[in-house]
Amino acid sequence: MKILAFSGSLRERSTNTGLIRAAIELGNKADMQVYLENISILPLYNQDMEANFPKEITELKKRIREADGIIIATPEFNRSIPGSLKNMFDWTSRPYGDNAWDGKPVATMGASPGGIGTALAQYHLKQILLYLNTRVIGQPEFYVGNSSPKFDQEGNLTDEKTTQYIEQLLKTFKEFISK
Ligand SMILES: Cc1cc2nc3c(=O)[nH]c(=O)nc-3n(C[C@H](O)[C@H](O)[C@H](O)COP(=O)(O)O)c2cc1C
Repeated sequence: MKILAFSGSLRERSTNTGLIRAAIELGNKADMQVYLENISILPLYNQDMEANFPKEITELKKRIREADGIIIATPEFNRSIPGSLKNMFDWTSRPYGDNAWDGKPVATMGASPGGIGTALAQYHLKQILLYLNTRVIGQPEFYVGNSSPKFDQEGNLTDEKTTQYIEQLLKTFKEFISK
């Protein structure tokens, strides 16, 4: 099973990218190949550019369509998702009528040092995903609050309980995709 993954944080030592790295490792044991996309290379969306559609967006849209499912890990920025992630959605849902996300199974996760662990950001994310006509998994919800002690200095996940939550999410997501 081929899974594409996005991290909403561009930071080198990002904890959200750390969640994806953990999912890559755990996915290997569950016959789920998880591939991390790099959204930092995408240009800022500009409708004028649609006339000469950027090659990297066309290629990304193809990879989204070919994936069996998508995992998104997002930090919470000002109670929403980071602009980099929104920019990726804006591009890959264009041009009008050619939305790469249509019908795609999606699971969301997120880590933040705050108490609510990206709950509000993920609800904004789910609003976008619903509009894009994806199939978003509702349960289990996945919020890593008070994240700092759960990762090392490089942003690698070290917390055993969170690792088990990822395992559970992958298992449920696999069944969800197959439904
Ligand atoms: C512009 C900005 C806005 C932020 N807003 C929030 C917020 O609304 N809620 C929250 O819990 N954390 C907020 N934070 C803290 C981030 O959750 C924190 O930087 C997080 O570790 C980023 O994830 P990363 O480790 O994957 O980079 C904000 C950080 C930045 C830079």
